[in-house]
Amino acid sequence: MDKIIVRGGKKLTGTIFSSGSKNAGLPIMAASILAEGKYILRNVPDITDIQTMIKLLRIIGAEVVFNKNELTIINKGFSRYEAPYDLVKTMRASIYVLGPLLARFGKAKVSFPGGCALGARPINLHLEGLQKLGTTIEIKHGYIYAYTDKLKGGKIFFEKKSVGATANILMASVLAQGITTIENASCEPEITSLAHFLNKMGAKIKGIGTEVLTIQGVKTLHSIDTTLISDRIETATFLLSAAITNGNITIKNCSPVHLGFVLDKIKEIGFSLQISKDTISITDKGEKKPVEISTNPYPGFPTDLQPPFAALLSTIKGKSIIYENIFSDRVMYISELQRLGADIKLNGNQIIIKGGNKLTGAPLIASDIRAAAALIIAALASNGKTEISRVYHLDRGYERLEEKLAKLGADIERVKD
Ligand code: EPU
Repeated sequence: MDKIIVRGGKKLTGTIFSSGSKNAGLPIMAASILAEGKYILRNVPDITDIQTMIKLLRIIGAEVVFNKNELTIINKGFSRYEAPYDLVKTMRASIYVLGPLLARFGKAKVSFPGGCALGARPINLHLEGLQKLGTTIEIKHGYIYAYTDKLKGGKIFFEKKSVGATANILMASVLAQGITTIENASCEPEITSLAHFLNKMGAKIKGIGTEVLTIQGVKTLHSIDTTLISDRIETATFLLSAAITNGNITIKNCSPVHLGFVLDKIKEIGFSLQISKDTISITDKGEKKPVEISTNPYPGFPTDLQPPFAALLSTIKGKSIIYENIFSDRVMYISELQRLGADIKLNGNQIIIKGGNKLTGAPLIASDIRAAAALIIAALASNGKTEISRVYHLDRGYERLEEKLAKLGADIERVKD
């Protein structure tokens, strides 16, 4: 197992390129199940979650080649309809194959994902939505067995917004007979990019980017090429890494338009941002102040940035509060930040930060992808050496983050345990 060692106190400066989006890439890869042919996906991040999805597509029967951020998937018709436990337990997004397998073959067997470091994470909305489209579902021996003679369009109202359920139902409904409507659909850029991808394959989805999606089922789809959108969470992770060191960096190839509230909060804290269509530069303006943040579905403030922002706010003098409204258990990193000397505590869903303590390096354990990023950000501002273990969490979602930060001047390295 690898560890990341950070010696804090170095100002980040320079230019960096954003990678393609993990959460856009995963459902698009699953969508390749929907039609035979050759798909080329560009700007795909080389991270372990993408590798896990590659393994899953190979198990189902695809030929996959991944070379220098370009992914080729050849679907010549599949022989297996299963997402096994070993893969689902390492990546919940494996559930994305459920909708496409049902749409294409009328059957699927997918391991039931359990809880994770973010809490219980139910999948009731995925299953209820598929049932509304005419699927029979049984849970046996830890697996979801799903069957249908033919998916039929239906009216689906999500009582709660869900990125994963919206993606799964979209992928199932594009080949269903008749019209499906999804109300209270997620509007995340990753969902919008999936919907555009499906339309390019020949699907008929209307309302893209809104809370009501209307899907007119079609008989067949075809394979296509695409380039993934950039990863908004990685972009913000760079901005926060620079901010905590009072640095001055430029991120190219990113999508500022996907980061509305996030950029507003960075400015409200007191950093200066120069923004163009696909570039953001951050500079330290001097005076800083604490802020209040509430996580919400897009276009609200993303829960994935709650831990990284908590790391930055630990160093900003005054009382900041973050209200975590999506994953109430996304708090395991808090006790690790306390080990660095941060004054941060939990009260219900409120993360209360009395910022401004001097942070000092310590051994830390990462508990999930964004917790790992938060610990690295905090370590960049900590005096002395911080050693972060279980960095396989980081590698699930960030493409060589330590190499990119080192290029910007951070004293950071990966070592074998
Ligand atoms: N929920 C239900 N029932 C369901 C599905 C979700 O109650 O059937 C609840 C969840 O428990 C949560 C809320 O609805 O409280 C939102 O969950 P959502 O389904 O939107 O999350 P997800 O699809 O499981 C994706 C991202 C996460 C990101 C969330 C929220 C992928 C692969 N994962 O998860 O990304 O935090 O949306 O934006 O796209 C990450 O990248 O580190 C990550 C965890």
